Amino acid sequence: MRGKFITLEGGEGTGKSTQAKLLATRLKDSDRAVVATREPGGAAGAEEIRALLVSGATGRWSAMTEALLHCAARRDHLDNTVLPALERGDWVLSDRFADSTMAYQGYGHELGRDVVSRLHDLAVGGFTPALTLIFDLPVEVGLRRAGVRVAGGKGIGSPVEDRYERMDPAFHRRLRDGFLDIARRDSGRCAVIDADQSIDAVHRAVIEAVNARLGAGL
Ligand code: TMP
Repeated sequence: MRGKFITLEGGEGTGKSTQAKLLATRLKDSDRAVVATREPGGAAGAEEIRALLVSGATGRWSAMTEALLHCAARRDHLDNTVLPALERGDWVLSDRFADSTMAYQGYGHELGRDVVSRLHDLAVGGFTPALTLIFDLPVEVGLRRAGVRVAGGKGIGSPVEDRYERMDPAFHRRLRDGFLDIARRDSGRCAVIDADQSIDAVHRAVIEAVNARLGAGL
């Protein structure tokens, strides 16, 4: 496979979607074919599953059901978007991937590392990103930013996608610690990016990580 798979991860309001767009532009400017995608979603079936996950009552799913839905969406996304793009030699940027299931369902909902790892092995197997950027931000700053974003709407025609933002602050703290733990355990794949800076400064840190880890020469 000539293409590279890069994932962007983090809690609410870290600015990773903005950074995904900036990185995609930078890669395209260097004449690479880029597919920018997201989870949950990124393929027709997975987007239908997304609608079940991101709206409605915070407690509408058990942690296990929620993890299974995320894994089902991921398999559909891999089969229909990510793997075909990598086979073509494209660079694939995914706004969230498997570390979100570990952080949100494994740590946030306290399903545990072991259960999430087993689900992951079944649904995804040994496939891993070449690089994972973990955007880190104090919980209060992220939720404040996400609140502004939700009030402003999250895209034309989309229902309000704030189910996770509405979960309690303790959930969001477990989530942040979870992402940092994931990064510590897999430091060869993961780079932690300080997201509590200007958009430009975060973008520079992203480019530095992509160059250092993947030799991208951007
Ligand atoms: P987004 O707001 O980044 O588009 O992501 C939608 C929500 O889905 C976000 O609050 C995080 C959550 N999520 C999980 O809980 N587990 C997962 O595996 C993924 C991919 C997302």
